[in-house]
Amino acid sequence: MSTPYRILERKRAGLPLTAEEVGELVRGAADGSWSDAQLAAFLMAAAIRGLDPAETDALTRGMLESGDCWNLAAEVPGLADKHSTGGVGDKVSLVLAPLLASCGVPVMMLTGRGLGHTAGTADKLECIPGMEQELDRARCLDLLERCGMALGVATTAVAPADRRLYALRDQTATIESIPLITASILSKKLAAGAAAVVFDVKVGSGAFLPDPDQARELARGLVATSVALGTPARALVTDMSQPLGVWAGHAAEVAEALRCLEGEGPADLAEVTLALAVEMAELVGRPLPRRQLERALAGGQAREVFLRWAELQGGDPAWLRAPRFELAPVEVPVRARRSGVLARVDTRQLGMLLGEAGGGRLRAGAAIDHGVSLANHVRLGDRVAAGDELARLHLRREDGAAERFAACYEIADEGAAPPLILDRIVGDRIG
Ligand code: URA
Repeated sequence: MSTPYRILERKRAGLPLTAEEVGELVRGAADGSWSDAQLAAFLMAAAIRGLDPAETDALTRGMLESGDCWNLAAEVPGLADKHSTGGVGDKVSLVLAPLLASCGVPVMMLTGRGLGHTAGTADKLECIPGMEQELDRARCLDLLERCGMALGVATTAVAPADRRLYALRDQTATIESIPLITASILSKKLAAGAAAVVFDVKVGSGAFLPDPDQARELARGLVATSVALGTPARALVTDMSQPLGVWAGHAAEVAEALRCLEGEGPADLAEVTLALAVEMAELVGRPLPRRQLERALAGGQAREVFLRWAELQGGDPAWLRAPRFELAPVEVPVRARRSGVLARVDTRQLGMLLGEAGGGRLRAGAAIDHGVSLANHVRLGDRVAAGDELARLHLRREDGAAERFAACYEIADEGAAPPLILDRIVGDRIG
């Protein structure tokens, strides 16, 4: 058995660690036998020296096995899962899960809380009175049996090593390391034990990794490590250089997702959702033609599954029959500063400003104002005249917000929207 000191010496020198050595440090993170100083030193050495695929696989496996592993697909064959790296206005999960379930593909997603410029699915679901978010294995199996989907937050028994390592990464400037991100995401994602996972890796100004090369590297790493650990996976790299859909803000996003579930959602949201649905269905061996998925949206079957699921997961039936979403009362138009073409949106800054106005969480554990929101009226490449309304804010007070938000929209002589789906990475086969 190597001592922590020996393991750190090797990693500092850029030598690859064995699976046993990586296993020891993860055990040390989970049982407290490695100090914060030792773990932080490992994280910094890993961030600078990198981790090769075998080390990343070992780290992911160790972190995954540090907690409960539900192996749900053993009881629900063909169970599909999706993970998004997050962005502004990303309400895809709320549409995707009931859409696939309405077409006979069961879906399980353990989701997270929002932090910084992105909003979490779990926070959005709080807009539905009564929703119970904490799910354990038995509850998931019951929901999957009764309505074909489950969506919520995992109990703290999932991947405890990640909680400790993530908190240390946050303090040591090691969040951005792609192998560490890969292991962190997968240690929680693979714990549910779906038959296959599809990743939606966002790229562009509102993404966790805005740079296309880094986003592609993360997508490839997520797929390769999932496959190495026995779960077939694919990834789509999708655009987040502007908010997805019209609305950003918790209550407004749930309302928009419900409209999309009736075939009336914005085209970009529907497009990303349908593309992911096609990949997930195919990957679990139950391919669905896109036409069938479109019919399930337009015909209202997907919305019916959403309502049934929400009620089974504690949602107030009276509210669900006639949902009401209260937006913050002060409406503020955001206007174009000049004429031209919308060339760039600082989407991360839009998300941060929404957060500062109360509509997001800038510190872990802080409360969220679900009614604060932004309706985005223009898309990249659209022509606008000076003074045109680019977006409308729903706030508690104006506070000079119009100017700060207007500065996020860059209008130039020319500009174009990037493709919505930039890349596709496939890892269907195990072994
Ligand atoms: N999400 C995670 O769960 N972990 C990371 O490291 C980054 C994003």
